[in-house]
Amino acid sequence: MKGYFYITTPIYYVNARPHLGHVYTTVIADVMTRYHRLLGEDVFFLTGTDEHGDKIVETARGLGTTAKALADENSGRFRALWPELEVENSRFIRTTEPDHVRVVQAILQDVYDKGDIYFGEYGGHYCIGCERFFTETEIVDGKCPIHDKELTFRQEQNYFFKMEKYRPWLIDHINGNPDFVRPERYRNEVLGMLREPLDDLCISRPKSRLTWGIELPFDHDYVCYVWFDALINYLTGIGYPDGERFGDYWGAAQHIVGKDILKPHAVYWPTMLKATGIDPYRNLNVHGFWNVDQAKMSKSLGNVVDPLELKNTYGVDAFRYFLVREMVFGLDSNFSEEALIERYNADLANDLGNLVSRSTKMVSRYFDGVLPDGRETATEDDREVRDTALRVVKEYQGRMESFELHTAMMSVWSLISVLNKYIDKSAPWTLAKNDPERLRTVMYHMMEGVRFVAELICPVMPATSRRILEALGRGGMVQALDTFGALAPGVKIEAQEALFPRVERMKKVDEAPAQPPAKPKKEKAKAKEMEEVNLIDIADFARCRLKAGRIVEAAKVEKSDKLVVLKVDVGTTVQIAAGIGASYAPEELVGKYIAVVTNLKPARLMGIESAGMLLATDAPDGRLALVSFDREPVVGARIR
Ligand code: MSP
Repeated sequence: MKGYFYITTPIYYVNARPHLGHVYTTVIADVMTRYHRLLGEDVFFLTGTDEHGDKIVETARGLGTTAKALADENSGRFRALWPELEVENSRFIRTTEPDHVRVVQAILQDVYDKGDIYFGEYGGHYCIGCERFFTETEIVDGKCPIHDKELTFRQEQNYFFKMEKYRPWLIDHINGNPDFVRPERYRNEVLGMLREPLDDLCISRPKSRLTWGIELPFDHDYVCYVWFDALINYLTGIGYPDGERFGDYWGAAQHIVGKDILKPHAVYWPTMLKATGIDPYRNLNVHGFWNVDQAKMSKSLGNVVDPLELKNTYGVDAFRYFLVREMVFGLDSNFSEEALIERYNADLANDLGNLVSRSTKMVSRYFDGVLPDGRETATEDDREVRDTALRVVKEYQGRMESFELHTAMMSVWSLISVLNKYIDKSAPWTLAKNDPERLRTVMYHMMEGVRFVAELICPVMPATSRRILEALGRGGMVQALDTFGALAPGVKIEAQEALFPRVERMKKVDEAPAQPPAKPKKEKAKAKEMEEVNLIDIADFARCRLKAGRIVEAAKVEKSDKLVVLKVDVGTTVQIAAGIGASYAPEELVGKYIAVVTNLKPARLMGIESAGMLLATDAPDGRLALVSFDREPVVGARIR
């Protein structure tokens, strides 16, 4: 029987441009899509934009534009981004499209006719950022726990969906299908939400307050609540109710969402489906949040990571690999460009890149680029290569099925490590002199191992996988992961240069020479001229994390005229040793807002740990002048 796989991302709000969080969810969905396509399954991958509701209207008003114009612009940005990241979605849906409006109205009418929608009055605390009411138990210090913002109290007459009615059914369903919501921590969280009676879901907004939405078919004075509208996209996208696709794919539906939208997907959505008479989706896969430099990513902090910039600097495959490998699926993760560079150099330039270039070059050197026949496994080491490859395939498949993508990557890298060690231990350069028979076996096992690696990385790094497979003469061939020995002896192997050239790390402060060596006059003038024309790429500047900070403590360092030790609030408190003691008294410094470079490697100056650098320039009186701001900045905000 043909296997089907249906995968969705949340549809993204069009009040902002795409950022790292959106990219993560979408890349993961693409990885799963490619993986299931390789298994020979029929895959449908849906993503798109969520365009109605208060939040969009409010943002558009602030920008002096219309909701429609804002939606068109930002929806276009999302749509254009995906091909840049090698994301191959089957459809890009917009909730303003006519087929979606029809489906939402049909479902509203159906649930209304069944008696599960009633008219009533409700007062509650609303977060526009989340576009939902929060219950007393969810509210933290009077604020939205996700946006940390004051909630708005709203009381109005509206239509309600009888969500509470389906609570016992949902509890049973979750208990009977333990991986319905996964990883387990989120399943437990949902069961926690279901312990107390649920408020019925307010599913309308009066047109007197909001018109940007889908009109209720049974009351023209109201539009549909944005979440009720948005969730239904998962049905519209595959042609509900009559489309053939719906019949094929719905039973295999997998949603991917971030932890902030757990409740709408794990509580509202299954109960809405139940009321409509549609089976629940198969799994809800919930991931954690990316923080940036240990802080929550937010516009006001100015630390929103631009995915295109990263892709342009490091390449699409390296960026995708980093996202998949770095985040433990389900937990929060910290993003820093340093971490990306470290992974790039260690896993890609070193482990994978070296393996591919050294192995293909050896076949070139010792066998004129023609793969010798060495399929017989002769020694314990050969067997280890073969058995590891076959074992890793199983392990990898199990992990991919259960959405443990980061450990699936670890499996592949365990094979890469075995292959690199195999080469080192077998020393082909010695065999080339004294044991041609053994050399053939080693070359064959090595290249066949590389083929397994190339096939296994395909969902995450499609271009790199293609390139390696083409070098092995297997471009466009079907996968063969159940047989060690599928690579045909006699094929031409193309020698490969570095797939991932190493990326220079940012210089440590203590690596920089304290005083540049004195230069002869002529050279000095030349250097000055060079400095003036030494243009840098925007990406070089982007590596530098500059933030607004506030000095909270300052003290002189004993035995030093110049050095002061500062505690600076840059969102978190960091200690900085700065050479400004001859220009400022410590007490003068406390309370000053300054510009700080926050991503320098820590250094020790006169035994004092320093985790950043402040910016200063020369004043006419020969002292230093701190770089500051012309009005009070948000502490921790990125300077850009
Ligand atoms: N429009 C709703 C979803 C409706 S689905 C029927 C929405 N949109 S969103 O644009 O705000 O967010 C979409 C996704 O991005 C969510 O899964 C959210 O968790 C994810 N992320 C937003 N910021 C994130 C991080 N910093 N890190 C990881 N993912 C995060 O919610």
